[in-house]
Amino acid sequence: MVEWTDFERATIADIFSKMEYEVIGPAALSRCLVVYPWTQRYFGNFGNLYNAAAIIGNPMVAKHGTTILHGLDRAVKNMDNIKSEYAELSVLHSEKLHVDPDNFKLLSDCLTIVVSAKLGKEFNGEVQAAFQKFLAVVVTSLGRQYH
Ligand code: HEM
Repeated sequence: MVEWTDFERATIADIFSKMEYEVIGPAALSRCLVVYPWTQRYFGNFGNLYNAAAIIGNPMVAKHGTTILHGLDRAVKNMDNIKSEYAELSVLHSEKLHVDPDNFKLLSDCLTIVVSAKLGKEFNGEVQAAFQKFLAVVVTSLGRQYH
């Protein structure tokens, strides 16, 4: 089981309590699709992803970015049981969607960059460490049903 310090718990709770899901989620997913274009292959039904402007302006990307970010809520609410929280989503991404699990890390890095830009100075090294530790546990948990 992952151990969390009081600081880490408070930091994660704080970041998500002021999270603008509908801004940060779309920004993180669209950044992932721009920076790592091979991730676009899973979103063939999202229409035009031809260039950065098309990706950023795509309403389906925006909607799904928000969905993904809300997907993190279950980890925030149950930090001591993140792995079991993601059992079902892990099966979905692996067996149904066939998403390469390396992509979870790419998306989480994009989310870190977007949150950093949003929080500015507040996102110091200790806050970054807590946030990335949290995302690393989510990423591992999502990749757990792959074999
Ligand atoms: C669907 C969460 C990363 C591709 C979903 C859904 C959630 C979710 C909650 C909706 C499930 C449902 O409808 O029951 C997450 C989380 C991620 C993550 C928390 C990482 C932090 C990724 C990545 C990719 C991906 C990196 C691909 C590069 C998809 C696709 C769908 C999906 C293709 C189905 C979209 C649709 O057509 O509706 N994800 N996801 N996900 N996810 Fe993920």
